[in-house]
Amino acid sequence: MDRPERRIAIASCREASPTATGATPVFTDVDPTTLCVTDQLVMEAVTDRTRAVMPVLFGGRAVNLSGVRKELVGRDISIVEDAAHAFGSRNGARRVGTTGDLTCFSFGPIKNLTCGQGGVVIPRSLTEAATLRRLRMLGVVQSQAERGQTTSYGVEGFGLRYQMSGINATIGLVQLDHFDKAETTRRILWRAYRRALAALDGVRLVDVDVDRSVPHLCQILIPNRDGVHKQMKARGVGVGVHYPPNHLQPAFARWRCDLPATEQVGREVLTLPFHQHLSENDIDQVVTALGQALKTAGAASCARP
Ligand SMILES: Cc1ncc(COP(=O)(O)O)c(C=O)c1O
Repeated sequence: MDRPERRIAIASCREASPTATGATPVFTDVDPTTLCVTDQLVMEAVTDRTRAVMPVLFGGRAVNLSGVRKELVGRDISIVEDAAHAFGSRNGARRVGTTGDLTCFSFGPIKNLTCGQGGVVIPRSLTEAATLRRLRMLGVVQSQAERGQTTSYGVEGFGLRYQMSGINATIGLVQLDHFDKAETTRRILWRAYRRALAALDGVRLVDVDVDRSVPHLCQILIPNRDGVHKQMKARGVGVGVHYPPNHLQPAFARWRCDLPATEQVGREVLTLPFHQHLSENDIDQVVTALGQALKTAGAASCARP
């Protein structure tokens, strides 16, 4: 099929990866309870010019597009998962990365599995694997080991210097040995937050499907988020905002559109401290501080003219 303009439907992905390929990004809205796309939102965004759909597996939650996968494949549209948050999570019974989609994991410093800095792309075919190896090595076809045996090498196209260093890979492999523990602890801690937060009025927890996921983030939706953020910082609690909506960023001004749910979430979302080295006592302290912050910020917003 002749599809001169390449369109990629994406859900609030982090950076400009689609535009780096020359494709036109088409942002989609999200389900405000999960911050992920749904079958319906994806199908509303795709057209006969769409080449790929890039769901973000937000907070660690797998995005199950099985209801529309057959149609997407039939229309020659790839699913490229931004699984930066979702290492270890399951889509149904299967781990993310084994479901037949092209999956990209990040192993950055705060991810479920870290190697310091780096990541992994899971290809689905030998051709994709060869292409990825070439892309990560300045377009060179031969591996470093092969190059060591010959006097020349071939550069067969575009490439970047994205190969993982041996040092980073070694850190990742050691972390992998401890991943079972990280997985269990992250679930226990996320559930501890859920129990503690249930006592606070006006706080909605973003659902990560904890029984199947390895949670990466613990996020809440609250009115007066900015006021609460300020109050939490004043109490020394490391809250954050993940993320200001991408479709409103200047870099994407050309493709700006209205995404009401994403924009509402962008105003209300607050990320609570979350990693596998927290204790349940730390979580109680965060939630106590949050209760106080909500009261103070609520009172401050009422006092405004
Ligand atoms: C949703 C999402 N996608 C992509 C990335 C990029 O990952 P990396 O920094 O490993 O390239 C991140 C990193 O934080 C992310 O959170």
